[in-house]
Amino acid sequence: MARILTGIQSSGRPHLGNILGAIVPAIELSKNPENESFFFIADLHSLVSIKDGQLRHEYARAIAATWLAFGFDFEKNIFWRQSRVQEHTELAWYLNCFTPFPMLANATSFKEKSEKLADVNAGLFTYPVLQAADILLYNANIIPVGKDQKQHLEMTKDIANRFNQIAGEDILVLPEPQIDERIMTIPGLDGQKMSKSYHNYIDIFLAENELKKVIKKIVSDSKALEEPKDPESDITFKLYSLLASESDVETMRQHYLNGGYGYGHAKQALLECMLDKFAEPRRKFNYYMENPEELESILTTGEKKARAIAQDTIAKVRKVLGFSS
Ligand code: ADP
Ligand code: TRP
Repeated sequence: MARILTGIQSSGRPHLGNILGAIVPAIELSKNPENESFFFIADLHSLVSIKDGQLRHEYARAIAATWLAFGFDFEKNIFWRQSRVQEHTELAWYLNCFTPFPMLANATSFKEKSEKLADVNAGLFTYPVLQAADILLYNANIIPVGKDQKQHLEMTKDIANRFNQIAGEDILVLPEPQIDERIMTIPGLDGQKMSKSYHNYIDIFLAENELKKVIKKIVSDSKALEEPKDPESDITFKLYSLLASESDVETMRQHYLNGGYGYGHAKQALLECMLDKFAEPRRKFNYYMENPEELESILTTGEKKARAIAQDTIAKVRKVLGFSS
């Protein structure tokens, strides 16, 4: 049995890119009866950038509701908020002391972010160590992540190796990343990678009229309605082809090539396709957002299950480090 583990930061409401690029594929993996899945909300990681507790809490709820809306089986698996299991921070400190400074200083993500952000705090610097703790605490084997996380996973393995070597015992289990090269980067409204940071994302849980306004903002060229259009270079068409059935995509492609079909028509078709495809997740998402006690109770159950495993690892680590009597 493989233990799958992944986390998503609570630094915004999940968008179509997060959903198609991370949440749905992870849920698919979790459906394999051979796998045991540990999915959590990385709210401690989001403290690096978000200092408003209420806002972070709201985002954490929205992320939890999204996992549930897309059918994550929280009874078979483990689903929790990182901040509620203190062992994450405890292990992170121990691992900090086994992490060479240059490894963190040379991390691509740190270098890129520290150039852009106004608040370059030590949390941003040690972010990969907390991520290593998240993984190593649960003896996870497979970590489904996006390509951008590859280096963080290499660091996790290096840190675990150093720890095991110095401790003289194989206490920490070395994980493997699972990076699905087939998952494409979902384009945003402007054609760049869809991302919270670029403000080009589609929140599929918006009310219908709001969603319609967002879809209208998808950038297109200025070809007139009658003119034939190039489906391959158009963002609305790309998004539609990620969601619609093969035959519907083919029909839209022909409309583009024939002309007499405007971008407004394509956007309306995209809206209808989203409302149809995501009808059930939208209903469930709203249900969990309107019933926070139920969401809380699911997460609290998960936290208990997670804590039991985390405490076991921490006990071994404390012992080998000479911190237990
Ligand atoms: P954002 O770029 O909006 O801040 P995150 O970095 O929090 O998103 O990403 C969370 C997860 O969603 C990661 O696993 C990432 O690989 C995936 N993801 C984010 N944006 C996209 C996208 N446009 N296409 C595919 N996957 C994405
Ligand atoms: N750093 C990951 C991201 O930004 C989120 C994350 C935190 C994570 N801890 C993790 C992912 C542990 C996998 C395993 O997407």
